[in-house]
Amino acid sequence: MAQLLRHLAGTGVTHLPKVDVPKPSRVLGKPRPSLVVAETVAVSESVLPVTEAGVATSRTPSRLRAVTPVAEMKSPSSVLGSDNSAKVMQAGPFPETKAVTETIYTDLESRRDALSKLAKCVAGCQRCPELASRRTQTVFGVGNPTADIMFIGEAPGAEEDANGEPFVGPAGQLLNKIVEASQLKRENLYICNILRCRPPGNRNPLPEEAANCREFLDAQIHVVQPKYIVCWGTVAAQNLLNETQAVGKLRGKLFDYRGIKVMCTYHPSYLLRNPAAKKQVWEDMKFFMKHLGVELQ
Ligand code: URA
Repeated sequence: MAQLLRHLAGTGVTHLPKVDVPKPSRVLGKPRPSLVVAETVAVSESVLPVTEAGVATSRTPSRLRAVTPVAEMKSPSSVLGSDNSAKVMQAGPFPETKAVTETIYTDLESRRDALSKLAKCVAGCQRCPELASRRTQTVFGVGNPTADIMFIGEAPGAEEDANGEPFVGPAGQLLNKIVEASQLKRENLYICNILRCRPPGNRNPLPEEAANCREFLDAQIHVVQPKYIVCWGTVAAQNLLNETQAVGKLRGKLFDYRGIKVMCTYHPSYLLRNPAAKKQVWEDMKFFMKHLGVELQ
């Protein structure tokens, strides 16, 4: 980071956006989080925490984590690490996502059209060189463009990379069972992930990758405008809500994200490795469905 700051200063960049230190997402009923870019600050090592927060990692303290996504920072177009991994900073959002998020959607057709424009933009995205060079295809999202419920997972796995659809592999099969047992229908949901490209070996998404992909996620949320979101697993929960706690600590309550009620529970892949946790997921689904007026036995 110090090197980046020196580089920026050397190229004549003297100020970076300063970000109000936000509170973590609130459990429903309490104040909503604010993400406010308030003023500019001089580029110097003394403002390291501000810029460090701009590339927040899971190890970054929560008070610094809700920040301007890397994708929105005014900065050099590419800052590759020595391992050539995805440390890419974008000059700004894609024009497609900007246009989509500046439009209000009221009907099915316009939502479908907006999602298809976003999907095309995603298909050409090269922000994360490692992921873009290895993917078979991008995995944008699937489902009802007017869904009341959105599911957010972590990232595509091998089957999803091969098919172009989220949750079609073993975790997806288990997810389908949970959906059915909860009296939901997969075709009525909208399903997507934090990342739209498969990380090699199914490793966890890097913070830069999640930041690069965030504008697509937010654009999808904006278009679909679900009433509820279910975050499947720690990666989805932490990234969406800007939380640092593991999903085990976030389950059992509803959060608020931009007016949408959010429930967090364990990822189906975790359940495949730890079947005992299915009991908790079932409790979570009962809790969730109760909010929708459905009593599960
Ligand atoms: N795991 C996820 O989080 N998402 C998928 O799409 C598949 C597996």
